[in-house]
Amino acid sequence: MLVNSNEILKKAKKNKFAIPQFNINNLEWTKYILEECNKKNMPVILGVSEGAAKYMGGYKVVYNMVVGLIEDLNIKIDVVLHLDHGSSYDVCIKAINAGFTSVMIDASKKQLEENISITKKVVDYAKQFNVSVEAEIGHIGGTEDGVSGTNFNARLDECIRLVQETNVDSLAPALGSVHGLYKGEPNLDFKTMKEINENISQPLVLHGGTGIPDYQIKEAISCGISKININTELQISWSKEVRNFIENNKEVYDPRKIIGSGENKIKETISTKIEEFLNK
Ligand code: 13P
Repeated sequence: MLVNSNEILKKAKKNKFAIPQFNINNLEWTKYILEECNKKNMPVILGVSEGAAKYMGGYKVVYNMVVGLIEDLNIKIDVVLHLDHGSSYDVCIKAINAGFTSVMIDASKKQLEENISITKKVVDYAKQFNVSVEAEIGHIGGTEDGVSGTNFNARLDECIRLVQETNVDSLAPALGSVHGLYKGEPNLDFKTMKEINENISQPLVLHGGTGIPDYQIKEAISCGISKININTELQISWSKEVRNFIENNKEVYDPRKIIGSGENKIKETISTKIEEFLNK
């Protein structure tokens, strides 16, 4: 069933595990993610970047595709359709109006006052439609979907102000994680993460999940992380496999066979991530 992220994140926070956000790019990926998460009985957040929505044809296309897959594949788990890094109020409204059940407003490049005012505007609109809202504070570095940023870490006092003044549902504080690949071991600020968690009741979100070792994932969950975003890792596992398939099957031109050759690998990666996030 399509739901907002509030109940599943609350449950994850209470029971000390993390809900995965896997980013989608096309029909096949969406199908693989839904099938594997359904098999593992794990609720899932389907992350859709602005670039991915545009690539797939638009927010309505994505909404209808996801609703259709849930029905036709008989998916029983809770599924959240979430705009990842919405860059403006207008983009968030577009996604909400198309049927998305959750949005992230990323005004993290703005000054705190402006971040608060844009986030609040989105929250006020979203609440009318029972849509959950995630905000970012500090700024997560690295590159995603061709958009690059320099990391600067979130401050506790700013996190407290942002959640108190906007009533946002979940918070992604930048604490050293980056989008894309890490140079060396990730250097996450667990101390501040723990302090933020002790001072706000909203579930915390960890972006840049690719390349964070299992022991750091566990520590992050123990410091209040209830949602972890994975994009690059799926891209790498799928593209490696497809590249291999094309090189070894030069006579094959059926797109279903080519795209589908990455299915098992992508599902394997999803399954491994779910096991890690269950934090047992
Ligand atoms: P990675 O691409 O590093 O896995 O990060 C994904 C993400 O944070 C999406 O918002």
